[in-house]
Amino acid sequence: MDPYEKRSNPWGDVERHVGRYGAPFFIPEIIDHAKGSYVYTEEGRRILDFTSGQMSSTIGHSHPEVVATLQESAGRLDHLFSGMLSRPSINLCTHIAETVTDPLTKVIPLSTGSEVNEAALRMAKQVTGKFEVVSFNRSWHGLTEASAGATYASARKSGLPGTPGQLAIPTPYEYRPDFVDRDGKLDWQKQLDYGFAMVDAQSVGSLAACIVEPIVSGGGILVPPSGYLAALKKKCRERDMLLIFDEAQTSFGRTGQWYGFQHDGVTPDILTLSKTLGAGLPLAALVTTAEIEQKAYDKGFVFYTSHVNDPLVAAVGCTVMDVIAKENLIVAAREKGDYLAAALKRLVEKHEVVGDARGRGLLQGIEIVKDKTSKERSEAIGDRITARCLELGLHMNIVCLPGMGGVFRIAPPLTVSYEELDEGISMLDQAITDVENTL
Ligand SMILES: Cc1ncc(COP(=O)(O)O)c(C=O)c1O
Repeated sequence: MDPYEKRSNPWGDVERHVGRYGAPFFIPEIIDHAKGSYVYTEEGRRILDFTSGQMSSTIGHSHPEVVATLQESAGRLDHLFSGMLSRPSINLCTHIAETVTDPLTKVIPLSTGSEVNEAALRMAKQVTGKFEVVSFNRSWHGLTEASAGATYASARKSGLPGTPGQLAIPTPYEYRPDFVDRDGKLDWQKQLDYGFAMVDAQSVGSLAACIVEPIVSGGGILVPPSGYLAALKKKCRERDMLLIFDEAQTSFGRTGQWYGFQHDGVTPDILTLSKTLGAGLPLAALVTTAEIEQKAYDKGFVFYTSHVNDPLVAAVGCTVMDVIAKENLIVAAREKGDYLAAALKRLVEKHEVVGDARGRGLLQGIEIVKDKTSKERSEAIGDRITARCLELGLHMNIVCLPGMGGVFRIAPPLTVSYEELDEGISMLDQAITDVENTL
């Protein structure tokens, strides 16, 4: 069968045969191919991809070096028995360890974000001999058992029992502070103290780990205030809990460092990498210290999956890291990120419905509100801007989770050009203007 065969009535096939897994399918057009910063529809429409696919394609779609690696590896070394090692997987582990801060030296290559968080939580529980897990109330860590247990942004209201021992703390959100100082600004230390007082009150005395993103992406592009992550680590240390950073979206240069946590100088006990590592292919990695890895091994830790250490995607991961280094994409993310952030700040000044702009590097967000004074969330306005952007040729993603809506995540590939950034900003500006004119 030709996978690209253009059967008649594809939407009939979709209706009959394609299962749904959450939000509706995004656009009423079929994507034919993708290249660099754009995706192209079968009708020949070009759409600027300001979300890098599912926040993953950081070196652009179908980067020629990734294509070459895939072609070579597919014909040389595709998949192996899980107990066998190959050069690509050894080299990937070594490359990652060389870019992560010491003492994180041990790497396990896996496939997806949910899966690697599952592995990290299993490891933390096994090493500490405890089972309770703390995470932010606006978190998204995945959809498998333990990663979904630590996720509060979505999918909790299934009516089914959850994983025991899950505890939430409030997410630091400077635009909407819940604990305030005398000036009305977020008092994050008070918020954190309160969060852990609640954790201590509810805990049965078995706190194993705390898992957070160094920038909470799905929860609304929330950059923690300076000092927050260090204080969080202190809370973990006081309770002999392991600290896990989930860097699905913040690693491999996107925020202007190899890894998001390097901005804060706070090293986690376990680091989980996914989306951006394979730059669109299913590749993830758990990174931890030699000491934790040894303890886990001694205690019989098992995460023996069919695709652990798979060579084909590991080869892609090596190429992605090479491209980031060779094309100087970390510096590019910093410089283009500053350029994008300045343009987004101008949108805040210009439009009443743009309440805030925030982010780091090429992970930016704007928050849509009814008006700046009330700061009332407006998912409806956000949805209309998204639709208008798409008509104009820009793909934007708005966080549209109940009670969390109204934040656009803007994360173009690090390979984006300044012209493409200008084009995207201009379409976004136009879309906001058009929607504002109808309010
Ligand atoms: C921070 C974070 N962690 C984990 C996941 C889950 O990754 P995956 O969808 O690859 O299972 C996501 C997905 O959006 C994510 O944003």
